[in-house]
Amino acid sequence: PVIYLVTPTYRRPEQIPDLTRLAQTLLNVPAVHWIVVEDNSALSPAIASLLKRYGIPHTHLKAQMPEKYKKSKLKPRGVANRNAALDWVRSNCKSGVVYFADDDNTYDIRLFEEMRFTKKVSMWPVGLVTKVGLSSPVVNDKGVVVDFFDGWMANRKFPVDMAGFAVSVQLILEKSDVYMPYVPGHEEDGFLKKLDVSPADIEPKANRCTQIFVWHTQTKSNTPANRTTATGKRYKGTNIDTL
Ligand code: UGA
Ligand code: MN
Repeated sequence: PVIYLVTPTYRRPEQIPDLTRLAQTLLNVPAVHWIVVEDNSALSPAIASLLKRYGIPHTHLKAQMPEKYKKSKLKPRGVANRNAALDWVRSNCKSGVVYFADDDNTYDIRLFEEMRFTKKVSMWPVGLVTKVGLSSPVVNDKGVVVDFFDGWMANRKFPVDMAGFAVSVQLILEKSDVYMPYVPGHEEDGFLKKLDVSPADIEPKANRCTQIFVWHTQTKSNTPANRTTATGKRYKGTNIDTL
């Protein structure tokens, strides 16, 4: 089965470094189709050229966050992007698995073989999530998911991170009206509840959720500042589109 890897991304100085790292991870993954969805009014040439250069099978799309959410302090990040990718999957795919892979996380390539044969929904631990440092399903000795461990429960039925689950294309096609909600912090839970998965349906991976193959790393941002060169000329910083 092909893994349809959905990556929402938005313009910032760390964007190309983060996407470069992810591209170089995906070079080591067979049968993957990378769906990169920009939160932008136009496709950026730098990303188009990055995608072309690495030669990973891909689809380059754009989907902007609706204006009304852009002003809010807590934003539903990557939601418009992921929903556009769900539309693309529904019109272009018949089988496979969908994984929502944010551009800044760190992925061990063993993760992709764990998720590849997902029947409905598979789950595994994610490291470095919240101050407790771990988000994971709790699995009993029969291999059934019976609970969840996460630093932020917030009354969620599925207190999991975006990087902690994959869904079969078949289920996404069956539940043709299910999208991710524009509710910050509740995107995963809202989506999984609408897919109508029961805890018994969840396929625990990564050796019964005892191994960590993905980390919720976050790239430190730096406020760009103007500097001068050695001869005193103004230096305005690198142009992130020059690649
Ligand atoms: C956490 C979760 O890991 C995300 O999957 C979830 O979408 C997010 O919280 C949320 O609930 O809002 P976090 O590291 O805080 O993630 O968020 P980011 O990594 O900054 O953003 C998630 C994804 O959306 C990234 O791939 C990012 O490039 C993209 N994004 C972010 C946009 O497309 N537009 C934005 O304005 C911000
Ligand atoms: Mn992130």
